[in-house]
Amino acid sequence: MPANCMTGSASSRHARTDPRIKSRWPSRFCWGVHWEIVPVINLLIHTALILIAILSLAACSDQKTKTREDSYYSEPYRPQIHFTPEKGWMNDPNGLVYYKGEYHLFYQYYPDSTVWGPMHWGHAVSTDLVHWKHLPIALFPDSLGYIFSGSAVVDENNTSGFQTGDEKPMVAIFTYHNMQYEKAGRTDRESQGIAYSLDRGRTWTKYSGNPVIKNKGDLNFRDPNVFWYEPGKYWVLALAVGDHVEFYASPDLKNWELTGSFGKGQGSHGGVWECPNLFPMQTPEGEKWVLLQNMDRGAVSGGSGTQYFIGRFNGTTFINENDSSEVLWFDYGADDYAGVTWNHAPDGRSIFIGWMSNWNDYAQKVPTQTWRSAMTVPHELSLKKTDDGYRLFQLPVKELEILRNDTILMNAQIINDSTQFKITSSVQKDIELVFDVSKSTAENFGLILSNSKNEFVKIGFDAAKSEFFIDRIHSGNTGFSPLFAAKHVAPYRPGNKLSIRALVDVSSVEVFVDDGKLAMTEIFFPTEDFNQVRLYSENGNAELSGGVIYGLKPAW
Ligand code: FRU
Repeated sequence: MPANCMTGSASSRHARTDPRIKSRWPSRFCWGVHWEIVPVINLLIHTALILIAILSLAACSDQKTKTREDSYYSEPYRPQIHFTPEKGWMNDPNGLVYYKGEYHLFYQYYPDSTVWGPMHWGHAVSTDLVHWKHLPIALFPDSLGYIFSGSAVVDENNTSGFQTGDEKPMVAIFTYHNMQYEKAGRTDRESQGIAYSLDRGRTWTKYSGNPVIKNKGDLNFRDPNVFWYEPGKYWVLALAVGDHVEFYASPDLKNWELTGSFGKGQGSHGGVWECPNLFPMQTPEGEKWVLLQNMDRGAVSGGSGTQYFIGRFNGTTFINENDSSEVLWFDYGADDYAGVTWNHAPDGRSIFIGWMSNWNDYAQKVPTQTWRSAMTVPHELSLKKTDDGYRLFQLPVKELEILRNDTILMNAQIINDSTQFKITSSVQKDIELVFDVSKSTAENFGLILSNSKNEFVKIGFDAAKSEFFIDRIHSGNTGFSPLFAAKHVAPYRPGNKLSIRALVDVSSVEVFVDDGKLAMTEIFFPTEDFNQVRLYSENGNAELSGGVIYGLKPAW
């Protein structure tokens, strides 16, 4: 407000008692209002102020009584610490790339429905891997097809020639899926295209020379995963082709040459291979390469899932260092699919995010309303040597710890069925438990997430069967698919200690055993929030060495 206005309103306070002031009004009163109506305006202003005060008091008291259902991102089953689209259908994470302080998360997206349809790339960014900001849709389907899964890179050296100003080109490499070709029964329906952004991923231009890799008739020919291969100073692209991965090389992201393939007769082939992700990792014995390989069905817990290979990449192809018949599962739960890692992540980190659902079994039927599906939280991957050789370990990224608030500490104790805990502030929680297995006699022990309606998810170790498991048979709303109410198991032999980390959200749990050596991710839909955590033991004692439950603030 300009200074002369302040003078005007101060004068108005004296207008009734000091007739001399009248003459000054027209020149000093803002907005040119005639003096005779000033008392009326005064009255109006006062009334307005009183009204505003009453309204804001009402708003404050409203806030106090607000429930989770009233605020943003709080519909039934809406995850509080996981990424979900505001509305519509989401599947695979795509184009994970870090640039100028932002982690970009693109994803398979159909905004007009909660079931799969014409695929777009949705877009969100985060500066801390915890809080996500929704951005406008990045890529729309066009005459060449739907925009299927793929990756994104930052073209630091402008090898593509797309750069025009100071900003480095961000290049997305994706699969075009041509529905006309599919309807016509053509097998060459999938090809690879590229698009670029010169404004940090905000707007995109499709390359006029698309497609950059044409299909010679492979029915499944998709999900390009691209990275810069520094030793050869060229781009490498890994592509899922039914039962194997093909590798291509390019100097400029536009011209690609087939260099090798991997996969036939290797690992599991219970379904179609999709969404490969090849990346190097450091170990005390030097660099090793990891190939994450998603498979649309036939995975360890039924339906879709992810296996991985460890070995070498020689610039043209991947060489598995383990026996070809050995199958290494990335996650033994039913709900971690199509996951990939971020390109250019700072400090050499391997940060992974997966789609928290099961494509083959029920993804399009889960009982959420305005949106469908969530991502896992980002996981930090590492390679560690075990008795069986090198294995991938994974844990939630450390950044998530900023969400922790209330804390329940558990001392060393013997667990029996009445050991019950309740974080009252939030449904979402981060649970850490360490059991002394050498002193435990129980046949079966672990934790139970439950509500007052006798619905529960049981997470535990079955010593008799040497299995770790998640049982969601009685987890509430399970009727949407006969495949949902199930107990999933992982072979597991503990040492003297068994550590369990369980990251619980409104409708999911990600479990990490022994510092992430074993991971299990499962979703669930209770008819009332799982507010309670119980530790249990069956047929004997379980010795808890210690534990903690952190309540977690919502990330939205
Ligand atoms: C994996 C997948 C990909 C494909 C995309 C289509 O979930 O089937 O192979 O590109 O989803 O949405």
